Amino acid sequence: MNIVFAASECVPFAKTGGLADVVGALPKALAELGHNVTVYLPKYKQTKLKDARVVLPSVTIPFDDQYRFCSVVDGGKLSGVQFYFIDYPAFFDREALYGTPAGDYPDNAERFALYSRAVVEAAKILGAPDIFHCHDWQSALIPVLLRTSYADDPVYRSTATVFTIHNIGYQGIFPPDILPLLMLPWDLFAIDKMEFWGKVNFLKGALMSSDHITTVSRRYAQEIQTPEFGFGLEGVLRGRSGNLTGILNGVDYNEWSPEKDKLTVCQYYPDKLEGKMGCKYDLLRQFAVESPDVNLPVIGIVSRFAAQKGFDLIAEIAGPLARLPVIFTILGSGDHEYQELFLKLARQFPGKFAVKIAYDNVLAHKIEAGADMFLMPSHYEPSGLNQMYSLRYGTVPIVRATGGLDDTVEQWDPETGKGTGFKFTSYTGPALMNAVQQALDAFDNKPKWKQLMVNGMRKDFSWGASAKDYVKVFERLVAPKPGPSSEKVVEFSRA
Ligand code: ADP
Ligand code: GLC
Repeated sequence: MNIVFAASECVPFAKTGGLADVVGALPKALAELGHNVTVYLPKYKQTKLKDARVVLPSVTIPFDDQYRFCSVVDGGKLSGVQFYFIDYPAFFDREALYGTPAGDYPDNAERFALYSRAVVEAAKILGAPDIFHCHDWQSALIPVLLRTSYADDPVYRSTATVFTIHNIGYQGIFPPDILPLLMLPWDLFAIDKMEFWGKVNFLKGALMSSDHITTVSRRYAQEIQTPEFGFGLEGVLRGRSGNLTGILNGVDYNEWSPEKDKLTVCQYYPDKLEGKMGCKYDLLRQFAVESPDVNLPVIGIVSRFAAQKGFDLIAEIAGPLARLPVIFTILGSGDHEYQELFLKLARQFPGKFAVKIAYDNVLAHKIEAGADMFLMPSHYEPSGLNQMYSLRYGTVPIVRATGGLDDTVEQWDPETGKGTGFKFTSYTGPALMNAVQQALDAFDNKPKWKQLMVNGMRKDFSWGASAKDYVKVFERLVAPKPGPSSEKVVEFSRA
């Protein structure tokens, strides 16, 4: 199959979160299964390319006020996957991908509409796929365009669309007058298309127009069909539940494995865990914890700072947490409010809360390797990758039982010696405290703790199995169907 990925971030070119890890790894896993995979990305300021070559010098993108002309750059092949970049410096040559801590860039609709149209135009010339696999709201206009402006384009007659929701909390919602500006037809402003409480919702457009929808864990596929987690789109998703599949994200173990991690000072594996203590010393040094007691457990956090991640619970019980015999090492950046929260805790409880406000991949690896436990109290978590990395590093996860966290962490049972971590359900400070306390109690019994670590290290969340599940979804869409009724129907609201 020919598969085109369209997404706004991808390791190693641009990253703010787990989407980049997925778009960096899943295409590789699909290529290993014998598929022909191409990835289109925006070319940001932070995108570093060697030997980049312009393949399409001028692609015309119509806007109501003016035409814009972008180019397409060939980024070459990596691990069997072809990369192309949409180059339009006025939109993408900026400090950040989506905005600053003060807020989103005001022209995000135009930026990602240009990107989406450019992908559709470029793929017509560089190779029309069997499947367009689009990710999150930034590429959500692609399935919409294929149902509208490109519905009669013979090039795309047999192209199907799959849309993956990585996080339904981000939808791309804009005022209605964005439709004419982007040269999209007014009839999209309808309840069964892109209209959403008087605004235009890009993500809704993709959910209504894609041939199939996936999301990044089974549990999250159920959750987003409920008012608690659906962010207003639960009804839309219930309407399409027959075409909605949860496929858990995988881990790229070439990047995230303690036995071959080049970013940590020591390496280790289940039968030889001594190196982990070296990583712990290094971590405490990196965070400048003064004369720490290395017998105390270290709890790590690496995160985007956003409401989703559950840090309100930490704020709620910060005092009691600070009195526990633990050291927190916290790395993150994002919403101003949470940056302030953690900086305040670091000032209030020095030696207890060690905090770095930064985006730092090396330090993220050092935390995974050097901490004893990893905390993710998320309010919601579509898949989550860090808990899977933690499991591989023998860094026992403490998580809220939601989305992918619930699907990947098994509650530890000291009686049977089964389980990989600690889970709590109710979204309250005391429930979090209880889970942390259970982890501390378990930490005191060294042989059992070792067993718990090794249980997690032996879990396998590699991409192979999930990539095969995606292939099954793709194959159902491209399989030739008999008779004239198999013609791809183009009216927009078809489920
Ligand atoms: P999300 O995509 O919601 O942010 P995930 O757990 O899926 O959550 O993925 C987060 C990814 O981003 C992981 O690879 C993690 O290591 C990385 N990450 C998040 N914050 C930082 C940071 N401040 N510094 C370095 N890496 C980070
Ligand atoms: C999102 C989710 C996270 C998921 C990632 C990759 O950012 O918040 O849970 O792991 O996408 O799918």
